[in-house]
Amino acid sequence: MSSRPQPVATAEAPRAAEEPRTATEGGVPTHVAIIMDGNGRWAASRRLPRIAGHREGARALRRTIEAAIRNRVAWLTIYAFSSENWRRPAAEVLDLTGLLRHYLRNEVAELRQNGVRLRFIGDRSRFDPDIQRDLVTAERDTATNGRLNLTVALSYGARAEILAAARHVAEAARAGRLDPAALDEATFEGFLSTAGIPDPDLILRTSGEQRLSNFLLWQAAYAELVFLDVLWPDFGEEHFAQALADYARRERRFGARPA
Ligand code: FPP
Repeated sequence: MSSRPQPVATAEAPRAAEEPRTATEGGVPTHVAIIMDGNGRWAASRRLPRIAGHREGARALRRTIEAAIRNRVAWLTIYAFSSENWRRPAAEVLDLTGLLRHYLRNEVAELRQNGVRLRFIGDRSRFDPDIQRDLVTAERDTATNGRLNLTVALSYGARAEILAAARHVAEAARAGRLDPAALDEATFEGFLSTAGIPDPDLILRTSGEQRLSNFLLWQAAYAELVFLDVLWPDFGEEHFAQALADYARRERRFGARPA
């Protein structure tokens, strides 16, 4: 029997590895993950400061959440701040964390009303205490929602996540709570920050760049990848629809041969 943790209240339970859901069966991906890229280039092309691109990016995020709800996507994960983003100039880090603070204070109530459940993954200990408190509040206040499960990756890096899981596994084994010989993928997944969240079916990146940049590396194993040539602040419902249409045309085999 799998020791994977039970899913939290969700619109749709995570699929088991042996029961792949294919694009042809459902058409609409259960879980879309997005690398929102191109804010800086959008601003530079308009001779605006980078923060203007990030602000416009926050508007694009609002449109995307609405599009996900309209398209009945049950899970949406967004890469809002990577662990590498701390290396940006201090002024930009301050702008980005300021935008996050503003977002948490001003947008969560509406998300809550719209049935969005918020979760945050990543190393939240690096944020100011008031932001950390707002993250806890946002998760708590939306915990009973299930129309859209929105996971925001903040100060997130997949390698650090996998390493932390490995450390917890090792500690559990040392304490005699886990038999190393019995460790399987489902058990390991239970130690990741995404435990209980289904793997992304579709990972979408904007701005024309074609890489994962340390995002959901474990979880992306069978994801379909879509790269769009649009800068994130320009992203809208039509681009979301384009990505879903592209996904629906893919044949997902999860390593098996076609029937
Ligand atoms: C990548 O663009 C984007 C980010 C590093 C930040 C993403 C943030 C948002 C979309 C705003 C919404 C955020 C919150 C806090 C809810 P880039 O700056 O790397 O762009 P570039 O590659 O063109 O320089």
